[in-house]
Amino acid sequence: MPIDAVLGLQWGDEGKGKIVDRLVKQYGYEIILRFQGGHNAGHTIYLEDGTKVVLHLIPSGIFHTTKLNLIGPGVVLNPEAFKKELDHLATLGVNCKDRLFVSSLTSIIMPYHTLLDTLCCGKIGTTGRGIGPAYEDLTGRKAIRVYDVVTGTKQSLTELLADILPIKNAIISHFGGTPITIDSMVDYLLEYKELLASFMMENMNRFILGSLDAGKLILAEGAQGTLLDIIFGTYRFNTSSLVTISGLNAYCGIPPQAVRKVFGIFKAYVTRVGNGPFPTELMNGIGDQLREAGHEFGSTTGRPRRCGWLDLPLLNYACQINGVTDLIMTKPDVLSVLDTFKVNGGYETKDGKSTPFFTPEKTGELIALNEFILDGFTDIHDPNFQDLLDLIASYVEPPIRMVSHGPARDEIITL
Ligand code: IMP
Ligand code: MG
Repeated sequence: MPIDAVLGLQWGDEGKGKIVDRLVKQYGYEIILRFQGGHNAGHTIYLEDGTKVVLHLIPSGIFHTTKLNLIGPGVVLNPEAFKKELDHLATLGVNCKDRLFVSSLTSIIMPYHTLLDTLCCGKIGTTGRGIGPAYEDLTGRKAIRVYDVVTGTKQSLTELLADILPIKNAIISHFGGTPITIDSMVDYLLEYKELLASFMMENMNRFILGSLDAGKLILAEGAQGTLLDIIFGTYRFNTSSLVTISGLNAYCGIPPQAVRKVFGIFKAYVTRVGNGPFPTELMNGIGDQLREAGHEFGSTTGRPRRCGWLDLPLLNYACQINGVTDLIMTKPDVLSVLDTFKVNGGYETKDGKSTPFFTPEKTGELIALNEFILDGFTDIHDPNFQDLLDLIASYVEPPIRMVSHGPARDEIITL
């Protein structure tokens, strides 16, 4: 059987958590796989009884008790945050044991990563969770992985950290922070050794491929959004992982031809949290109205999200980069607070020319034309909503298959 993926097509916060939860129910995926990012993500789900849960690390399939949930090799995992999430789920009666596994290759986010993130990455407006510094160490061959911790001893971890910490401490001191001792880091890791051992899976890629051969359906759950990708995003103001479909192949050892459907999730307007260019941003009362109506405050950091009009060239770009096969729109209901609203179909460039194409490295130079002015709609059954669907279809190739029009589990229609 093939593997399907759910990916964000904007700057994150498209509503992926709810969609994963829904797709698992609808299509019966048996395995849900988080393949990149870390606890910078915030995937919000409302349970049957209305309880709101925000998941940061653990896949959104965890509430379906018969499903298996995997945290892949390309994720960066903070053991403290992991434990906190497990404990929180336990209070909701969700037991993760034997239903959740973490790859032995997964990198650990260390306390010095978190410290370095807050000391050095302020300009970007990161989530401050140590994500960037942890991925830097992975590429720099300085990561400590789950396997190192689970098989580690006081001596082996001391040796490992003796290679890593001097450089970290030099940077920490340069930025006015307090240097970190090897002993404290060894103790920190040993504290989580048993917990990690109880969730560790070796050869996760072999397990995934074997499951596919055995006819199991797998859903890969992307975090963040395409415009936050390390290569194809709005570079420097992005996250540090491969967010696009290529991450699934690169991080999990899954061959590209195993991928069947790519569900691309987009919001009917656009939001961005953190700094960086945003061509359709509304820095006025309308942006404030959307923020209030859409409850656009970060689910991880609580920061107010910047809001703007739906950007069709950007959506088209994200569809192409990811090979999206099915589009899913979220939150059009939020637009109903406006009598009219706009949609962007092109940009004016620095030299005064217009272009229908989004080019990531030029994002800061692009002025959105916002040339489409549409009449508002009361709900998704209003004919004016169909006008929005038709406009999107004229720009973007994949069909819109679903529309989520409210936070509750049943507020979603299939087209
Ligand atoms: P980092 O991922 O914490 O390094 O943050 C880098 C950029 O990505 C910042 O602008 C963050 O606000 C943004 N970001 C990271 N994770 C998410 C997410 O899950 N949703 C929305 N924005 C995110
Ligand atoms: Mg989020």
